[in-house]
Amino acid sequence: MSRRVLITAGANGIGLAMARAFQAAGDRVWVTDVDQSMMAALPPGIRGTLADASSEPAMEMLFAEIASDWGGLDVAVANAGIKGPTAAIGDLALEAWRQCLGVNLDGAMLLARGAARLMKPAGQGVVLFISSTSGLNGTPFRAPYVAAKWGMIGLMKTVAMELGPFGIRANAICPGSVTGPRIDRVIEAEAAAKGMTPEAVRQGYAAGTAMKRLTEAQDVADMALFLASDAARMVAGQALAVDGMTYNVDP
Ligand SMILES: NC(=O)c1ccc[n+]([C@@H]2O[C@H](COP(=O)([O-])OP(=O)(O)OC[C@H]3O[C@@H](n4cnc5c(N)ncnc54)[C@H](O)[C@@H]3O)[C@@H](O)[C@H]2O)c1
Repeated sequence: MSRRVLITAGANGIGLAMARAFQAAGDRVWVTDVDQSMMAALPPGIRGTLADASSEPAMEMLFAEIASDWGGLDVAVANAGIKGPTAAIGDLALEAWRQCLGVNLDGAMLLARGAARLMKPAGQGVVLFISSTSGLNGTPFRAPYVAAKWGMIGLMKTVAMELGPFGIRANAICPGSVTGPRIDRVIEAEAAAKGMTPEAVRQGYAAGTAMKRLTEAQDVADMALFLASDAARMVAGQALAVDGMTYNVDP
């Protein structure tokens, strides 16, 4: 059966990998993003709406469009997130903290709220939250991101409890460091903050995992497909790391 799948921030990175994976599985996929040029380059067949995941009016308009064009929703993925500032707690600017929580956490709430309204009457659905290993551990110099990603897990557990009786499963995926431009920026900022070379930080990330490599977006997409499938029918309220087992986060 072709599922109706919504993914926020789906024009790039992990979101795009998930969009491609669901499309390859025969599903209808709708993504949102704020990057106009990446939206223009979406693969054929993937529907896109320019919408900031943390904007209530934009997300409300999107859900109204989904209700009218699709008549419901089977899978909703709260993927939008920004890395936030890399700064010591003593140097944190409130505005940067709020911006990071806004995209990561307000965005997740707006996605879950809209999905709940569409899925409850149907008595089925899957809501996925893309948190992070930072939502399972602390990460030095990344307080806003860590707080947001822990917050997403608390939100997910509550959503799972509230919506489980309606046949809706909620789970979170916690990726490790995923290869791509975003992690390059994180590594550069951490290298600068610690007086190390970016390559040393990158090697430290890989060395600190059991699998001795960084995570690929496809690793995350495969977990999303599993959690959205009937094979995961009794999996709810879980925060599942896809990180090759990170056991040392401080290279
Ligand atoms: N990349 C990693 O190493 C990593 C690790 C753990 C968790 N994550 C999480 O996975 C998710 C996706 O990460 P990524 O690395 O693919 O991201 P990314 O930085 O590559 O960005 C993906 C897309 O998000 C879009 N975006 C940014 N702000 C948005 C907003 N407010 N509304 C809608 N779209 C927006 C960007 O335009 C971009 O196209 C995030 O929640 C991130 O925190 C990433």
